[in-house]
Amino acid sequence: MKSGAVGALERIKNPSRVARLVMDQTNRAFLVGEGALKFARAHGVPEQNLLTERSRKIWLYWKEKLSGRDDWMERGEEEQKDPDIRWYIEKFGVEDFRPQGTINCNALTASGDLVGTTTTSGLFFKLPGRLGDSPVIGAGLYVDGEVGACGSTGWGEGNIRLCGSHTVVELMRQGKSPQDAALATLERVVNASKYYRDKNGRPDFQLNYYVINKKGEYAGAALWNGSYGLAGGSKKFTPSRFAVADAGGARLQESPYLMKR
Ligand code: GLY
Repeated sequence: MKSGAVGALERIKNPSRVARLVMDQTNRAFLVGEGALKFARAHGVPEQNLLTERSRKIWLYWKEKLSGRDDWMERGEEEQKDPDIRWYIEKFGVEDFRPQGTINCNALTASGDLVGTTTTSGLFFKLPGRLGDSPVIGAGLYVDGEVGACGSTGWGEGNIRLCGSHTVVELMRQGKSPQDAALATLERVVNASKYYRDKNGRPDFQLNYYVINKKGEYAGAALWNGSYGLAGGSKKFTPSRFAVADAGGARLQESPYLMKR
């Protein structure tokens, strides 16, 4: 039940380090924006420009493609031949053009402590000021040392509205396994998000939970069984997976899921 978080923090490569400082060296739980940056500076955390040349080009390409009725003009096929832009199109496709880069990691230590962290670069090309679920305790991460830990990746807004990770941990407290608690919570998010549907009436988003309980039982659970991306010019299905490391070694496992593509 100790926690620390930072949000809307720019120029810091590892914001989870700053979140940990908030937890260990303040009596506060959440710092954001300029104040969080000042706090990081005060602790000597290095600042750097995180905008790579590749990201700058991809942003410009997206901006130019958005509309034929604004002032930004597309530069056509020539631009798509740029290796950085090709890399992006091949990795993420052009339909699902706004990936997120979130990671959650939970652990049960040898001495029996439960710990977790969730960190993200956020949603590509978001509205300025948009904060996702990752730093919101109870949504992107929740750890109760007596019960279990849960974190999430995917559509932050749906998860914030339902306090998803807190819900998963509470369901485990009531006796559910990590997998059942995660799938039940995903079902609740889907039922609570009836305005976010594709043309076939199915959920128009992905959400994943990663869960471990006090006994070391764990699960990753996904709303969708996987996603289609453009790889090497052809559509390729990638199953939803999560990583585990224990005495048996490190491995990827396919996630149980609620819905099949
Ligand atoms: N789950 C990450 C985000 O919504 O930004």
